[in-house]
Amino acid sequence: MHKSRKTAFIIGAIIFVLIGAGFLFLFIRVKNTPEITVIQTAADTNVNKGDLHVDMPIVKGWNDSGFHANQYDAKLYNNTFNNVKDWSITLKLPNNAKVNDSWNISIYENDDGTVTIINTPNQGFNDIIEPKEFITFGFILFSNSDEEITDFVVKATPEAKITDYPLYYILLAMVFINIVFVSINIAVVIKDHQYKVRTEHDRKIIIQSMKTFTNFIDAKDKYTRGHSIRVGFYTKKIAERMDFDEDELDNIYYIALLHDVGKINISDVILNKPGKLDDEERDIIKTHTTNGAQILKDFSSVPHIVEGARYHHERYDGKGYPEGLSGEQIPLVARIIGVADAFDAMNSDRCYRKAYPMEKIVKELKEGAGKQFDPEVVKVMLELIEEKVFYGIGSDDNEE
Ligand SMILES: [Fe+2]
Repeated sequence: MHKSRKTAFIIGAIIFVLIGAGFLFLFIRVKNTPEITVIQTAADTNVNKGDLHVDMPIVKGWNDSGFHANQYDAKLYNNTFNNVKDWSITLKLPNNAKVNDSWNISIYENDDGTVTIINTPNQGFNDIIEPKEFITFGFILFSNSDEEITDFVVKATPEAKITDYPLYYILLAMVFINIVFVSINIAVVIKDHQYKVRTEHDRKIIIQSMKTFTNFIDAKDKYTRGHSIRVGFYTKKIAERMDFDEDELDNIYYIALLHDVGKINISDVILNKPGKLDDEERDIIKTHTTNGAQILKDFSSVPHIVEGARYHHERYDGKGYPEGLSGEQIPLVARIIGVADAFDAMNSDRCYRKAYPMEKIVKELKEGAGKQFDPEVVKVMLELIEEKVFYGIGSDDNEE
């Protein structure tokens, strides 16, 4: 996978982890919503004030020889946007006052002289007060004065929802954006992969077609069977060490495979002649360079392919053919193929001689450097020989 694509997936994963952490934070926050406490005085009758509010007027009163009985009908308002539960109201009763009767609630006396009103457990209603709603309850207070109840401390726990928090919507948006981001990346990876498979398939077809064609060329001469493929191998190995990039390496491999394509026009009799060639025969053989260039002239998708065929028998000192170019006038691809070609020729049996021993090949290459061959290319070829990088050893010989 491409490095930038990998980075994108790592970023996507990190964002998902952050989103997860955000949701976890929200859940913990919602679960631990703090209790609301409102301190209210009896004079404070504005029901919209505060999150919780008690309205507790005396609706009926009896007075008998200094003894008072007052009926309180109360409402507890929830002014928040959430349900509230576990509500309680703590209040201080007048001196010597006693609750005589009550409804909808339970009343507990505290040690400090206050009482706490809560919903009667398991009663089945008034447990929860909905937003902007109220519950009702009441009681009758007996007392020997007409002193009224003054202060309330009202408490309740909100049932907060995760949707109460703007962060929730931000996180949802992030989930959506991140899913889109990751999906796009997955789509690109799939497309890249399909493209790669397709390209690789095309590449195999090209190489196999070329190899098939080189078999035609090499079949004309029983001693040069496999020569073109081996020259392709050594050419590519040399080019690798001369810092050709990947596309250039593919190209030079194709160029080397077809360097002798012009031999297709040369008679088998001359190609396979065991003895010395006369001048005329030698001139005929030499035409395989220009013939090759002619055959390949329309093969424009492989740059320099014509140069490979045309100039691979030029010599560095200018004594080669067909044009007698010298030094760097000879295209680099041709100079590389020239060395690879000569190496494979010396390393193979020919109709007129046996293969040279490796020491002799090394000696010939060294002596030919600067004369027949580009010395820089010879240097690389000698490295390959030194490291025993030979065709048929190793796994990358066959490109198909
Ligand atoms: Fe050749």
